[in-house]
Parts: sequence; C-alpha cells; structure tokens
Amino acid sequence: MKDNLILIGFMGSGKSLTSQWLAKKMGKTCLSSDRLIEKREGKSIADIFKECGEEYFRKVEHEVISEISQKNDIVLDCGGGVVLNPENMVLLKNSGTVIYLYASPEIIHQRTKHKSHRPLLNVKDPLAQIKKLLEQRKLFYASADYEIDTDHKTIEMVGKEIMELLNL
Ligand code: S3P
Repeated sequence: MKDNLILIGFMGSGKSLTSQWLAKKMGKTCLSSDRLIEKREGKSIADIFKECGEEYFRKVEHEVISEISQKNDIVLDCGGGVVLNPENMVLLKNSGTVIYLYASPEIIHQRTKHKSHRPLLNVKDPLAQIKKLLEQRKLFYASADYEIDTDHKTIEMVGKEIMELLNL
C-alpha cells in the first residue's frame, strides 16, 4: 500500500488547510482534487457546475481521482463529494490512509457562509442544505479509516491529532 494521506469530509471541514499543514510537516506533496479539476478544465469549479452541470463535474472528478491515486508520497485534499462514487473510495483506500474530517452542520455553516465559490451551498437556506447533504453522505464518510472531529479546533490542532493518531 502507498503511504499517502487522504483527507475527505464535507465542504468547510478544513481539508485544504489541514492537508497543506500536514504536507509541510511531513515533507510530502500536497495535492487538491478540486485544483487539478480546475487546471484540467481551465475554469473554476463554480463555472464547471454552471456551464456543464454536476454530472460532468463528477465525471472529471473521478478521472482526476483515478490519476492521483497512482501517486506516492502525497497528502490529498479531496472535494467533499468524492465519496459519492464508490469507485473513488476504493481507489483512495488502496492508495493510502483515508481520514474523515467531521464538522457539525452549524460549524460548517459558520465557516462557509461568507464564501461563494461552492455552487452546492449557493442556495436560499444553506444550513438546511448542509444538513440534508451531510445526512445523505454520512455513511459514505464513515467508510474512512479514521474520523476526526474538527469542531472548535484550529488547523494545527487537527493536524497534530492526525499525526499522533497515525504515529507520524
Ligand atoms: C463539493 C465540494 C467542493 C467541490 C464542489 C462539490 C461537494 O469541494 O468539489 O463544489 O459536493 O461537497 P470542497 O469540499 O473542497 O469545498
């Protein structure tokens, strides 16, 4: 098995900053599935959703996950919806240790409410949407190797907790 660290979790769970923190501490390369999708498509996630739809985004996301999961020595920040495709989870679990960053709906709402780059949260009642999607996805997230509760914690606290948990 490869020694990659893979962070999954809902939007606003702190995956991006935590994976950057971990990669720096561990001397690994930090990659983000969303940034690779944007690079490949030459447009933002919001524009991909708007112009091509969510189904197309999920197809590209799967292609990107297939490619990244072949890599070694990386910390991977996954878009919150990668878990929706069971094939992604098989690929990710074979490529390293998968850690689920949990955050409660209220905290996710607090962390995301002033940001507009996430198309799925640009709705009239974002808190209700967060609750609904989190409920739909909770079983998928639960298939991670480990779960960390990020509520009321800084990025550094979460990063340190992951390193202690994995004896790194
Ligand atoms: C999504 C999460 C986003 C991005 C896209 C869809 C989701 O990534 O992939 O907007 O379905 O949860 P982040 O979790 O990094 O915000």
